[in-house]
Amino acid sequence: MATELWNTVDDYFSRELVKSDAALEAALDASAKAGLRAISVAPNQGKFLHLLAKIHGARRILEIGTLGGYSAIWLARALPADGAMVSLEANPDYADVARANLAAAGLSGKVSVLTGLAAESLEELIRSKTPPFDFIFIDADKSSYPDYLRLTLQLSRPGTVIVADNVVRSGRLGDPANQEPDIVGIRSFFKMLAATPGADSTAVQTVGAKGWDGFSITIVSAAQTEANG
Ligand code: SAH
Ligand code: DHB
Ligand code: MG
Repeated sequence: MATELWNTVDDYFSRELVKSDAALEAALDASAKAGLRAISVAPNQGKFLHLLAKIHGARRILEIGTLGGYSAIWLARALPADGAMVSLEANPDYADVARANLAAAGLSGKVSVLTGLAAESLEELIRSKTPPFDFIFIDADKSSYPDYLRLTLQLSRPGTVIVADNVVRSGRLGDPANQEPDIVGIRSFFKMLAATPGADSTAVQTVGAKGWDGFSITIVSAAQTEANG
């Protein structure tokens, strides 16, 4: 009963406030046709991320976990004309689907999809001294969130915003006895956030078309980026 209403309300928000959009619809259709799971963010969540990046004035965006590029389209559309986005995806077939979807959305000039394990791509971005990102969206394998936090802090500047998806997992986070790898990873991600002096964070739960889950949000301060050396 409740979950049915969650979906109805999500549909209502999307219908009322999120303009239907050929490129985004086409990205979801192409992703489904290619056999990708329907685990992209919901339309109203995609727009939420878009608005956060825009409010922040982000010029450089990093995403970890591209899938078919649905959230990447939302985020890249928040960038100014000279903005840039890097999105990391382990599965080369998904990365190809995403590149095609981004091209169809007119965004290939702004978004680079890097294929490979995200931790390795992040190490390479750090090694090559890529300029820091203004907005970072963590959304790949949940068990690696602590690694992604450790590495993305090294790609941050004072003021960088880090958002992580799926930090609640149908409430399983709330069960202290749960030892599933994704929950263990999310728990240690939160422990790291709490223990990082230059990270100021909160988290909110969400319900809707994607079930019961949540986002964390962090702003990185000067203290942290200085600590990176
Ligand atoms: N951000 C997307 C959804 C991402 S789903 C959207 O909302 O539209 C999570 C993605 O992370 C999947 O495509 C999966 O292949 C990818 N992934 C899982 N483990 C990974 C890893 N170690 N490195 C990079 N990508 C990974
Ligand atoms: C899964 C991954 C996601 O990023 C998500 O939003 C929902 C589910 C998954 O791997 O099951
Ligand atoms: Mg997700």
